[in-house]
Order: sequence, then structure tokens, then C-alpha cells
Amino acid sequence: MPGEILFELKDVCYHYPGGEEALSDINLSIRQGEKVALIGANGCGKSTLLNVLDGLLFPQKGSISSFGLILDEKNISKKDFNFAFRRRVGFVFQNCDAQLFNSSVWEEIAFGLVQLGLDTREVKRRVEDVMSMLGIGHLKDRPPFRLSGGEKKKVAIASVLSMNPEVILLDEPANNLDPRTQSWMIKLVKQLNHAGKTLVTTTHNLDIIEEIADRVVVFSEDHRIAAVGKPKEILDKRELLQQVNLVDEQFHRHIRDDLHRHYHSHN
Ligand SMILES: Nc1ncnc2c1ncn2[C@@H]1O[C@H](COP(=O)(O)OP(=O)(O)OP(=O)(O)O)[C@@H](O)[C@H]1O
Ligand SMILES: [Mg+2]
Repeated sequence: MPGEILFELKDVCYHYPGGEEALSDINLSIRQGEKVALIGANGCGKSTLLNVLDGLLFPQKGSISSFGLILDEKNISKKDFNFAFRRRVGFVFQNCDAQLFNSSVWEEIAFGLVQLGLDTREVKRRVEDVMSMLGIGHLKDRPPFRLSGGEKKKVAIASVLSMNPEVILLDEPANNLDPRTQSWMIKLVKQLNHAGKTLVTTTHNLDIIEEIADRVVVFSEDHRIAAVGKPKEILDKRELLQQVNLVDEQFHRHIRDDLHRHYHSHN
């Protein structure tokens, strides 16, 4: 059962400097132990919301609290607050190139642990544990920028998991992964949640939401929350999914018609 509220957003609006609105009037709570999926079309604000949850962007309007304290620029600039917050929340970026900057996979995974001031033995133990959990031990001496997209994603996840955060924000973790790696990713999300982690995952892949979420937040293209519900409830809302551009009826009709024609032309 979900526990205490970890994040609470009230009437949050965010626009990029000089840009259009990216989040409009977002009201949302995230509880301990939940696995939440944020879904919506390209550009609806999913990544922006994860950046807000990670204290990287701050809304111009509305308020956000994390772990019972106000999450704003002033608090996050305080060393103690920042340290505690960064230990509790981990973020796997949509573009993991932006996340990987060390010269070897080993150093990449160890980086945050060294920053925490852990002793060498503990760093080694944690890096090895997480590499073996993700099956990436063979990559340990490779420079991260020379890995494949899927391998990079695993290293980015490893560098977050090694810190053992309570909340993990995953931005499109299943994108560009081969089917086996995608299944592995879905299993990992479930495992982490069973281990007590709170997970917030973005996706536009409706096929995986029943697995990666027990609550789904649907964004409309005007950057608002259009619906919140259990995955099954959301999947039943065909019209809504069409409105928010997550299902393209025309596309399905075309495929159906093509198949139909194809089928008949062979008879
Ligand atoms: N760095 C930026 N500067 C200016 N505008 C931005 C920036 N990043 C995103 N935006 C704009 O903010 C809006 C929300 O973008 P965001 O990246 O949060 O969408 P998203 O839902 O994650 O999309 P996708 O599914 O394509 O990843 C979009 O209109 C986008 O063009
Ligand atoms: Mg995004």
C-alpha cells in the first residue's frame, strides 16, 4: 500500500525562458511506494515534470514540496538540503549522453559514491553489486560515450541505483531498446518497486503501462493533466487517448484497411 506523500505539486506552471508554457496548473501527489507512469504525446511536458520533481527546474507559479519540505531554488541551494535530497532522489535522463561524462563505466558508476565520501571498499562493493545486477561487468573499462544506446542506458541506471535512492525518476527508459532489453527494463522497474522504491516513469508506449505503473497520469497536448487512473481504467478511455494524441485512430484504420485489402487480394 502506498505510504506517505513524498511529492506534492499545487497549481504548478512552468515555462522555459522566453518560451511557451510547458506545464499548466499541475496538481499531483506522489506517495511512497507508488509506481506512477506519466504518459502523453511529444512535447506535452513529461520530461519537464521530471526535471521539476528532481529540483532542476523551478515552477514560476504554484508550489512543490518534497519529503514534507518546500522544494524551491532557495532550499536546494542549501548544502544540507541538497545533499539529503540528492541522496533520496535519482534521475535517469531521457538522453543519457547528457548523464555520462566519466572516462570509464566503472568511474561513471562510482562517481556519485565518491562524492558522498564513502570509503574505497564500500564504493567497490556497491559498484560491483550494481554491475552484476545489471549484467554490465564486462563493460567496466569501456568509455561510456563509446557504448551502444542500450548499454549507455544500463550504465546511466547503474550510476543512479548505486546511490540507492528512495525515489527513481525514469525518463522514457524503454525507448530504443531491443525487445529483450525492454522486457528486462520492465522487470527491473517491477523489482525496484517490490524492493520499496517509488518510481515515476514517463512513456508514450501504452503497451507497457500496466506493467510499469499502478497509477497513470495522462497529459494533454496543452500541458495539463487530462486524467489520472489505474492503467486499465486509462486504457479503456479510448476517446481520451485519441484526444491527447496517444492513439491514432486513422493510423489504425489504415493498417486495418491495408491488411483487409491485402488479405482479400490473396483470395
Ligand atoms: N530546453 C528547452 N527550452 C525551451 N523549450 C523547451 C525545452 N525543453 C522542452 N521545451 C518545450 O517544453 C514543452 C514540453 O517539453 P518536454 O520535453 O517536457 O516534453 P515531453 O512530454 O517530455 O516530450 P517527449 O515525449 O518528446 O520527450 C515542449 O513544448 C518543448 O518544446
Ligand atoms: Mg521527454
